[in-house]
Amino acid sequence: MQYNFKYLIIPIMIISIFFLYSCNNTDKLVLADNGMVSSAHPLASQVGVDILKDGGNAFDAAVAVHFALSVVYPNAGNIGGGGFAVYRLNDGTVGSLDFREKAPSSSSRNMYLDENNEVYKNKSKLGHLASGIPGSVDGMVKLHDKFGSIDWKLILEPSIKLSNDGFQLTKKQAISLNSVKESLLKLNDSKISLINDTKWKENDLLIQKNLSKTLKRIQISKRDGFYSGKTAELLIKEMNEGNGIFTLEDLKNYSSIWRKPIIGNYKNHNIISMGPPSSGGIALVQMLNGAEKLNVNNYEHNSKDYIHMITEIESRVYADRATYLGDPDFLEVPSKTLISNKYLENKFSSITLNNKTPSSDIKEGKIEINETEETTHFSIVDKFGNAISLTTTINGSYGSKVVVDGAGFLLNNEMDDFSIKPGFPNMFGLTGGEANAIEGNKRMLSSMSPTIVEKEDELLMVLGTPGGSTIITSVFQTILNVIDYNMNMQEAVDAKKFHHQWLPDAIIIEENTINNNIKNSLIEMGHNFKERSSIGRMDCILVNESGKFEGGSDKRGDNIAIGY
Ligand code: DON
Repeated sequence: MQYNFKYLIIPIMIISIFFLYSCNNTDKLVLADNGMVSSAHPLASQVGVDILKDGGNAFDAAVAVHFALSVVYPNAGNIGGGGFAVYRLNDGTVGSLDFREKAPSSSSRNMYLDENNEVYKNKSKLGHLASGIPGSVDGMVKLHDKFGSIDWKLILEPSIKLSNDGFQLTKKQAISLNSVKESLLKLNDSKISLINDTKWKENDLLIQKNLSKTLKRIQISKRDGFYSGKTAELLIKEMNEGNGIFTLEDLKNYSSIWRKPIIGNYKNHNIISMGPPSSGGIALVQMLNGAEKLNVNNYEHNSKDYIHMITEIESRVYADRATYLGDPDFLEVPSKTLISNKYLENKFSSITLNNKTPSSDIKEGKIEINETEETTHFSIVDKFGNAISLTTTINGSYGSKVVVDGAGFLLNNEMDDFSIKPGFPNMFGLTGGEANAIEGNKRMLSSMSPTIVEKEDELLMVLGTPGGSTIITSVFQTILNVIDYNMNMQEAVDAKKFHHQWLPDAIIIEENTINNNIKNSLIEMGHNFKERSSIGRMDCILVNESGKFEGGSDKRGDNIAIGY
């Protein structure tokens, strides 16, 4: 029998178009005209959009989303942690808020070292001594007092309801809660709502009555609903019973701080990001400077040459982080110098296309980087033209694993972000020294990089992600994806990421980022690789050429952008 192939052409074309269409990320690109919220959980994004639709501005929505995430995304959303926000008002004014945790006042430099000067295993990571004084509630109150437009009580209402009535777990959340059950049981009794007698399943209802009562107290008394009164009493009781060192004074004295953001430049775009005590803004601006100087846009995206050049830039930037950066209230941080043209003039000049520079002599094998994406970021734009980029965390997944008895919220393990011993790597493999040594009331150095990008002085992008040390490099590569590789916001978020942080001397790469030929030729040059399943959970928004908002929410998680 003979086939006439011409009859196959049309079906083949239809199948090909369908295939191309389904491979193209634009099919899930979320577009909107008025406002948008991109966050790690559908319910939190919905809470934010509802506030925007009801006439609230981006700041009202941000505060509501932050509280909602403390309910529906307990592994990172929080009232027991801290974070940073970078904003841009509709008149172009930019600013930032630092609500990072502080070391309890009686903290001391060697508190995690034994009598032989060795680091106690896990003391900075697990349990009561791992926590800094939470900053999130004070931060949200400050943000709302300054920029909010709708009643504080209305902003708290959705999270009180979600915690009191419960919400359905996603599949990823059920798996995550099951995986942490053992550690939660070690540090809490089985009464806490995050622990279920049987295994959690998708769509199970998570009800958090104690958390709901705490949120109610915050709704009624704002800051005092957390830092004094019943919540503070419960917190101090929890600390006393678990050998923690928080005092009531520490809670009363906590205050978030308005700071000048870091402002840099990339090919006529303004980069507005977080300054110390986050390293994010300085490091990001340095990386972009390197990318511009070395014209990395000449190389094919994620090709051998591109990965080589980018990781050479990244490793040089992380070397500065370890040496110079810490809490600006405790030391002189040379922020301006570190991003000045003069300082950066020669920083990247030793990079060549054909040679890999080895990182300084390190004791290989001692440094492990945990695979965790357990901070959370959200981006919001409103119909008035305001934008806010906010990253918040309890550090590791479910923080210190301690839930405050009777108050229903998890405490952070942010103390691990300090340099607990010079040269000793934290859970992200980051090392440090004097600048980030522990002192009472000091803020620990962070990598969180909530960022806003302007093009010709107009809002272009709102970006950020969790990922510990990989936060900065993910934001860096996402900016290049849009500006140099013309990706839309969703494509830029979806694109595979890789990461180098100087120490350890290895490229951390997402599975299937590059083929074996490319990988082998990089290995021949002297690069080392470590693979992990994913890097980043980005939540970004772009204002495209037609003035529409484009959402870019990370499908590596349950993240979703909702607009209207
Ligand atoms: O502030 C920091 O840099 C870290 N505590 C962030 C932690 C984080 O992103 C966790 N997820 N990987």
